Amino acid sequence: MILVTGGAGYIGSHTVLTLLQHGHDVLVLDNLCNSSAEAIHRVNRLTGKNARLIEGDIRNRALLDQILGEHPIRAVIHFAGLKAVGESVQKPLAYYDNNVGGSITLIEAMQAAGVKNLVFSSSATVYGEQGGAREYTETMPLGVPSSPYGKTKVMIETILGDTAHADPAWTIALLRYFNPVGAHESGDIGEDPQGIPNNLVPYISQVAVGRLERLAVYGDDYDTPDGTCLRDYIHVMDLAAGHVKALEHIADKTGVYTWNLGSGTGSSVLDVVRAYEKACGKAIPYTIAPRRAGDLPAFWANPEKAARELGWRTERSLDDMMADTWRWQAKNPQGYR
Ligand code: NAD
Ligand code: UD1
Repeated sequence: MILVTGGAGYIGSHTVLTLLQHGHDVLVLDNLCNSSAEAIHRVNRLTGKNARLIEGDIRNRALLDQILGEHPIRAVIHFAGLKAVGESVQKPLAYYDNNVGGSITLIEAMQAAGVKNLVFSSSATVYGEQGGAREYTETMPLGVPSSPYGKTKVMIETILGDTAHADPAWTIALLRYFNPVGAHESGDIGEDPQGIPNNLVPYISQVAVGRLERLAVYGDDYDTPDGTCLRDYIHVMDLAAGHVKALEHIADKTGVYTWNLGSGTGSSVLDVVRAYEKACGKAIPYTIAPRRAGDLPAFWANPEKAARELGWRTERSLDDMMADTWRWQAKNPQGYR
């Protein structure tokens, strides 16, 4: 059985679905601070399987001890955490407590229970600036992320590395995601941000359904082909498949493994807008706005290590990502509510 922390969330729910389809038993632990139990109900309906959801917090050691004591957990996929970059600048302690503190509590409980197999949600943000390099490779040193959120990812990667160094029975996969977007092809589960979205694709989606008036494109004077920033967008179902591959790959190994999960190509903000317009069949109104503080002009994954070692590559195009995002948004204009 696989314990999935944060499994009711955006990436977690798609990964739970993929795990169930691969025949894994799944137990979800989520405090629902940024998600809805409805996501797991829908995953169960779509798969005809039964992932159980326990509503609780990864910082609750007694609860973790109980879960690890009562269920035959062989590995943990750890998504639980706070992820809003701007909010992390305003409330750094909440981020260090939830993400770093929560991860330490989880690692301690796993250590005590003898469950030493963990897949962790890291981020391309751990690369920091890399002196202007645009293609990120796992051998690059950890950088200095511009936000407390990003710093928590560097800290947790470091803590996990030190844990595995001290006790070689651990097996840890650090998965560095690039920009996850899209939704399950049914349109029944997807990303459901609270309040006004900060990220590009959720923002465009809400413009497309009329919840927001127009997109602000943050800067068109970058050193890129059309002047807008380049990012490596990855379909959330490709990302979910990467987790299953990583989990299965590390099952009979020990040590720490790091893999970029991205497509290897950069798309501009305007490429994304055009692909979304094609998917939804209407124009997305936008204006060019000043650059957003902290944005880098361009970066994307070198995905070769995951291809070589996991036999994993992205399969879905930017058009697929936007078509699936639109299907989810059109079917669920107010998200899960
Ligand atoms: P999400 O907010 O949808 O999912 C996180 C889940 O964790 C939510 O369901 C939330 O309720 C739960 N949670 C938060 N704190 C908790 C706690 N203390 N105890 C129990 N549950 C808790 O976010 P997501 O986009 O699915 O991201 C999942 C993971 O991937 C996060 O760790 C995030 O930092 C990481 N990540 C996300 C992105 C992205 O662009 N979405 C990029 C890189 C890395
Ligand atoms: C952001 C975070 C990153 C985090 C990732 C996933 C910052 C600086 N970085 O990445 O740490 O891991 O989200 O959650 O916040 N854009 C617009 N208009 C908008 C929104 C975005 O033009 O309304 C542009 C941005 O300038 C950027 C691109 O769209 O060039 C993608 O933005 P976004 O979706 O927020 O992701 P990142 O900034 O790459």
